[in-house]
Amino acid sequence: MIDLSPKASDLEPIETASRDEISSLQLKRMKWSVEHAYMNVPFYQKNFDDAGVHPDDLKTLADLAKFPFTVKKDLRENYPFGMFAVPRENISRIHASSGTTGQPTVVGYTKNDIKTWSRLVARSIRASGGRAGDKIHIAYGYGLFTGGLGAHYGAEELGCTVIPVSGGMTDRQVRLIEDFTPDIIMVTPSYMLSILDGYKKTGLDPRASSLKVGIFGAEPWTNSMREEIEQAFDMHAVDIYGLSEVMGPGVANECVETKDGLHIWEDHFYPEIIDPKTGDPVADGEQGELVFTTLTKEGLPIIRYRTRDLTRLLPGTARSMRRMEKITGRTDDMMIIRGVNVFPTQIEEQLLRCGGLAPHYQIEIRREGRMDTLLIKVEANHDASSTDARLASARELEKHIKDNVGISARVDTGEPNSVERSQGKAKRVVDLRPAE
Ligand code: DLL
Repeated sequence: MIDLSPKASDLEPIETASRDEISSLQLKRMKWSVEHAYMNVPFYQKNFDDAGVHPDDLKTLADLAKFPFTVKKDLRENYPFGMFAVPRENISRIHASSGTTGQPTVVGYTKNDIKTWSRLVARSIRASGGRAGDKIHIAYGYGLFTGGLGAHYGAEELGCTVIPVSGGMTDRQVRLIEDFTPDIIMVTPSYMLSILDGYKKTGLDPRASSLKVGIFGAEPWTNSMREEIEQAFDMHAVDIYGLSEVMGPGVANECVETKDGLHIWEDHFYPEIIDPKTGDPVADGEQGELVFTTLTKEGLPIIRYRTRDLTRLLPGTARSMRRMEKITGRTDDMMIIRGVNVFPTQIEEQLLRCGGLAPHYQIEIRREGRMDTLLIKVEANHDASSTDARLASARELEKHIKDNVGISARVDTGEPNSVERSQGKAKRVVDLRPAE
């Protein structure tokens, strides 16, 4: 893989600023943001008043912990436009979450917010090894989902040639990569695997493709998956993180030269890690739930938003801004099997150790008697798909899971292509337990 480290002169001054400079900018911006939310959003006024806090109580960054959290339910209850802090006419774009579990959540951006977002995605693409003049194939979905348009505006801002393909039609994705020879692809890691299937189907060599970098996010993925994809395409695979409530893609991004977790763009977002049970902040380095406060958003400022994503904060390396470790999973995706907490990413890691298995999987949770059980559906590689080989690989994965995750799970190895493919965010867990 080629060296794509950026030159120091390509970085924005704030990316290498001292911690003191970053903290003082954060405090100044945080005061503005908390005040802006309180003065312009009835929800925040009531929420702060009920908790007995006022924006004037924010004198240091640590004072933020006195303020109440915002959760997804608050956005749902203020559906559709109740969280906006500017008159609706000043909102230039709306996005929304898919709302698979109820009312969708709606977010709004002013023109300035779109400018800031574009700059931060441009910064993220640069951190990933992108440059002005690169061709970028965008296979994140376009529409209310923030992935497609968020990536698009950032790529344009950096001065790239954008190829706005959106998700789906895998054969066409392969043809466009071959014909337009992009340098970079932005897509979910699970959909990249579907594109890899497309390469195999047509007999083309993915390692010979023009792609130098993949910027993957919108769902959890492991370092083992990184290796799998980097090997398959002979390209760098870096992680991009974000969520619509806070902005969209580009809240944090890995640097291609280190690939050691995601630098949070702390000049615009203030991170905290809390104990998800008590809500108390924990120290940097400790695992917990990620919470974000926006520092510059005009349209929809968000104060102490509980993301439900689990990670830990680490000191800066390639940039001065702190890193978050690759996300382990979401609190909602945690399965408790006979008292052991399990995340899909742990199963993914073990799966990728088994040579005879393809990197696709889905987990079914069932109830047998009073016990929750896991059935892990995987599939054989083409060269290991005899019945004997499939049985052997199922036993191998069961053993890895038992030895390393500490639970007994049943593995069912199907024929090649038997596991459902993702077109965007993969659905890793299917809960078949009867409703309580
Ligand atoms: O998924 C924004 C995005 C688009 C990020 C494209 C990166 C690339 P939402 O649909 O609101 O927004 O979903 C946000 O997705 O809370 C995480 O649980 C998960 N997620 C996003 N990026 C990552 C990542 C977009 N890099 C939710 N690693 C978040 C793990 C991620 N999980």
